[in-house]
Amino acid sequence: MATKRILSGIKPTGRPHIGNYFGMMRPAIEWQEHGEAYYFIADYHALTTVRDPAALREYTRGVALDFLACGLDPQKAVLFRQSDVPQVTELTWILSCITPMPTLANCHAYKDYLAKQKDEPPDHGLFAYPVLMAADILIYDSNVVPVGKDQKQHVEVTRDLAEKMNRLYGKVFTIPEPSILPNVATIPGLDGQKMSKSYNNTIALFEEEKALKKKIMGIVTDSTPVEAPKDPEGSTIVNLYRLFASADDVARMEASFRAGGVGYGEYKKQLFAAIWEYFAPMRTRRAEMAADAGYIDRVLADGAERARVVALQTMNRVRTAVGLR
Ligand code: ADP
Ligand code: TRP
Repeated sequence: MATKRILSGIKPTGRPHIGNYFGMMRPAIEWQEHGEAYYFIADYHALTTVRDPAALREYTRGVALDFLACGLDPQKAVLFRQSDVPQVTELTWILSCITPMPTLANCHAYKDYLAKQKDEPPDHGLFAYPVLMAADILIYDSNVVPVGKDQKQHVEVTRDLAEKMNRLYGKVFTIPEPSILPNVATIPGLDGQKMSKSYNNTIALFEEEKALKKKIMGIVTDSTPVEAPKDPEGSTIVNLYRLFASADDVARMEASFRAGGVGYGEYKKQLFAAIWEYFAPMRTRRAEMAADAGYIDRVLADGAERARVVALQTMNRVRTAVGLR
């Protein structure tokens, strides 16, 4: 069987949170054992929202550090910054020329923006964002794209564009498949909605102890009194606890919910302890990596070089296919 090429990206628009971790980072780290993995920090994508250059630089390095601390192995996977391979913007243009406007008008980031009736009109970057994402995927000849459920639509657009290019120009592109793990497809945030940097309801992977405690204690719950039995199904506390605790501990919490007599505050303390313990080894590794000032830069420079080799090969093929040479 041919080796699979695995690719995914994450935007440096803030600190990675546990939705990113379970939906994308942990599956991506798992995939590095099963093929040639390429993971990048989507800084071109972040420009649609981050307008502070110092913040963009800091978030970009922060995402790299968190990803490495969580177990991304730069010997096994190629970790790079999207903008270190600017050829992807050339491919974006070529794909734009065959992308129907209605396809983009139907994509959720753009639709969400319009639905929120912001004072500012949407930017072209937000509208065209899925084309850049398609270029990211296609330029590395990716077979598998591990992502959370919110990205499924974008991978479908990518497949449509690749198929259209192949019809028009012969077999130029590999058709990618999304890989979405059902049990972690959508991790809830502090308010019970999907956890997302845009909703201000996140728990970052490496919060300070006090900040983490405060966030967990702030999880939105209903007003069931302490003595009363509580429903574990649909409880954000239980849903998050399932990610971090053993099956036995989860069963114990669920039984205690049903029995009643314990307030939500107590369950939040158990959740805090489970999260704090889960990330402890990664926290230690992160501190060690952060102490080596040049480490992140070395990893990203090496990754950029390896990614560029593949991107240049694909662009040679694409340029020839469309008649640019
Ligand atoms: P955010 O929505 O916080 O801006 P990103 O868009 O940068 O996060 O997402 C990076 C990756 O993490 C994507 O693969 C996305 O599907 C995944 N992801 C983000 N939020 C969640 C969530 N709440 N549950 C599962 N996966 C998620
Ligand atoms: N759009 C993705 C997100 O918001 C990030 C991303 C950009 C990506 N390019 C990609 C993910 C290519 C997978 C493959 O999370």
